[in-house]
Amino acid sequence: MVIGVPKEIKNNENRVALTPAGVTELRKYGHAVYIQATAGVGSGFEDEEYAAAGATILSTIEEVYAIADMIVKVKEPIAQEYKLIKENQLLFTYFHFASSEELTHAMIQQKAVCLAYETVEKTDRSLPLLIPMSEVAGRMAVQEGAKYLEKPLKGRGILLGGVPGVKPARVLVLGGGIVGTQAAKMAAGLGAHVTIMDVNLTRLRYLSDIMPENVDTMMSNEYNIRAEIKQSDLIIGAVLIPGAKAPHLITRDMLKLMRSGTVLVDVAVDQGGCIETCTPTTHENPTFIIDGVVHYCVANMPGAVPYTSTVALTNATLPYVLQLANKGWQQACRDNEELLKGLNVVNGKVVYNGVAEAWELPLTPVSDVLRKVIAV
Ligand SMILES: NC(=O)c1ccc[n+]([C@@H]2O[C@H](COP(=O)([O-])OP(=O)(O)OC[C@H]3O[C@@H](n4cnc5c(N)ncnc54)[C@H](O)[C@@H]3O)[C@@H](O)[C@H]2O)c1
Repeated sequence: MVIGVPKEIKNNENRVALTPAGVTELRKYGHAVYIQATAGVGSGFEDEEYAAAGATILSTIEEVYAIADMIVKVKEPIAQEYKLIKENQLLFTYFHFASSEELTHAMIQQKAVCLAYETVEKTDRSLPLLIPMSEVAGRMAVQEGAKYLEKPLKGRGILLGGVPGVKPARVLVLGGGIVGTQAAKMAAGLGAHVTIMDVNLTRLRYLSDIMPENVDTMMSNEYNIRAEIKQSDLIIGAVLIPGAKAPHLITRDMLKLMRSGTVLVDVAVDQGGCIETCTPTTHENPTFIIDGVVHYCVANMPGAVPYTSTVALTNATLPYVLQLANKGWQQACRDNEELLKGLNVVNGKVVYNGVAEAWELPLTPVSDVLRKVIAV
């Protein structure tokens, strides 16, 4: 198969969909890989490294789209890319169709085969292509929180781990899923006193078993949250209710209970945030202050560490890219239920319920498009 990797052109996107290691794997199976010049530079991969791994470097995005059977990307195509997409071309990338009607209609019109990273799903319902970014964001939440606790950045002026003779900082993590677990591990590793809250008692039991001594678990409820935030230095929002907006666990009035210079990092801001006063910010201007409390609410935290994010993402995507390249998308989706769940829009038809519902479009059963394309 001919695989094309365009350079991401969305504002501030430095990740790339394939590393030189990925090119090496694809070449082993005899696939041709075309990479747009400088596509990997933002993540620290030079054109020469891709060429040495066996890729051909193309100078323009037009050439990449024109030659490829499968386009592997990171972010959804933006308006200037729509017209480059060919009928039947397979696009494997994050789409988040339910948040863009324009993108949905554009992909229907181009008759592309859109396989979305975010809906590839394992039988245990976990989302293997979202987990790596949650891992990055969870770990980063502590790094950023520690930074903004410093006095020049308007924090309380407390070192997360303390020093001998001085108590460490207290970190409260709301939600003990992927983000929360990674955040708690990092904060605990730096020596902070950590409390994780979740509503899932089974999860709390598990965390209580695996976390180090300086991590406590607590049931998440308003009473406990009100009590904890009074003594927390850093509060990390990491709650997710699948398919719904995050609940506001910290309301505006609660800011008054916190000490001045407390830092809030609401990682869940991309789902509306679990802290009422959080609104999305950017890496250029990541924080704002309300009632003396520092709010960090960057919606694409992994974007600040493109090397780590690219390698983490491609570690997870490459096995699927190989299946798609080796078998073609129809056979790969028939053989692997996880990939089948990733199909969202196929040759002008919406085959994913969440997308059809979001934009009131007719839903075609995914089995239909598989059958039809094969019959052609
Ligand atoms: N800002 C970013 O750059 C970025 C990056 C990655 C992920 N995220 C977001 O981070 C959030 C968390 O993602 P995740 O992968 O950890 O999800 P996850 O499903 O692994 O974990 C969510 C946890 O929240 C818990 N929860 C639900 N309701 C709760 C409540 N009322 N109180 C306490 N806990 C509650 C769940 O039981 C679960 O354990 C999501 O909104 C995700 O989109 C943001």
